[in-house]
Amino acid sequence: MKLVTTIKELQAELDAARSSGQSIGLVPTMGALHRGHASLVERSVSENDVTVVSIFLNPTQFNDKSDLERYPRTLDADCALLERCGAQIAFAPSVAEIYPAPDTRHFAYPPTDAVMEGARRPGHFNGVCQIVSKLFAWVEPTRAYFGEKDYQQIAVIRRMVADLGFTLQIVPCACIREADGLAMSSRNTLLTPAERAIAPHIYEALKASREFGSAHSVTTTIQYVVSRINAVPGLRVEYFSIVDGESLLDVSDWDEAPSVVGCITVYCGSKPIRLIDHIKYH
Ligand code: PAJ
Repeated sequence: MKLVTTIKELQAELDAARSSGQSIGLVPTMGALHRGHASLVERSVSENDVTVVSIFLNPTQFNDKSDLERYPRTLDADCALLERCGAQIAFAPSVAEIYPAPDTRHFAYPPTDAVMEGARRPGHFNGVCQIVSKLFAWVEPTRAYFGEKDYQQIAVIRRMVADLGFTLQIVPCACIREADGLAMSSRNTLLTPAERAIAPHIYEALKASREFGSAHSVTTTIQYVVSRINAVPGLRVEYFSIVDGESLLDVSDWDEAPSVVGCITVYCGSKPIRLIDHIKYH
C-alpha cells in the first residue's frame, strides 16, 4: 500500500489506473480505524481494481472543538489495518493541503440535513459535504463506500451527489457491531470501562422496540425507547426519531413510508461521549 499526503501524489497514483480504465473505490474516513471501517475497505477491494482510503480528521465538520481535540489519532495502526485489508492507496493529507483557504461553500439539503444530527450539530453536514465533494472531485471514484452506522450522512451525501451531478455510485454498508451489540465507533475508545459497560443498553432498547412497535403506535414506541434508555444511570437520550428512511422526516404511522428507521443519539457518561445508532423497522 502506498501512503500519500498531497493531492499531486494522489493524482499521480490514480492517473495510471484511470488511463487503463481501472475502477476506483473510495472509502472516506477520519482515521482511528476499526472493524466497521475495515468492512467498507474490504468491500471496496472486492469490487474495484484500486481502493483509495482517505484518512483526514476534517475540522470543518466539528461544531464542538473539544470533540475534535480528543478525537483519537492512530495513523500507524490505521495504515497497518489498511494494508491487511488490501487497500492500494492511503491518502492522509494535512489540513493546509485540503483547505489552503477557508472553504466558503454552503451546502443545504433540507429537510435531509436539517433534522436530527443536522439540528443538533449546526454546520456538521456542511463540513461533511465540503470534504466529501473535494474527495469526489480529486479521486473521481467509480464507487464510494459509506457506513449505515451514520444513516443520515448517507442520505445527505446522496442529495449532494444528485445536486452536483457526480456520476459515481454510493454503496451503503451495514453497521458493524461489537459482540454485545454496541455499534463500532472511533469514539468508543474514549469510554471508561463503566461507560463501555452500559453503552450496549442503547442497541438492546432499539432491538426490543421492534417487537414493542409491532403492537404499539410510533409515538408510544418512541416513549418506550427513550424511557428505557434514560432509566440507565449514565445514559441520556438526546433524541430518538422514527423517520421515513428516504426523506428522514418523522412518520406518525408505521406504514406511512416504504422504509422506516429509528435514529438515536445518546450521551454516555460525564464527559459525555455522544453515541449514535439506528434500527431499521422495515
Ligand atoms: P468516520 O466516522 O471515520 O467513518 C468513516 C466511514 O466509516 C463512514 O462512512 C462511517 O459510516 C463508516 N463507519 C463507521 N463506523 C462503522 C460501523 N460500525 N459499521 C459500518 N460502517 C462504519 O463518517 C466519517 O468518518 C466522516 O464524516 C467522513 C465521511 C469521512 C467525512 O469526513
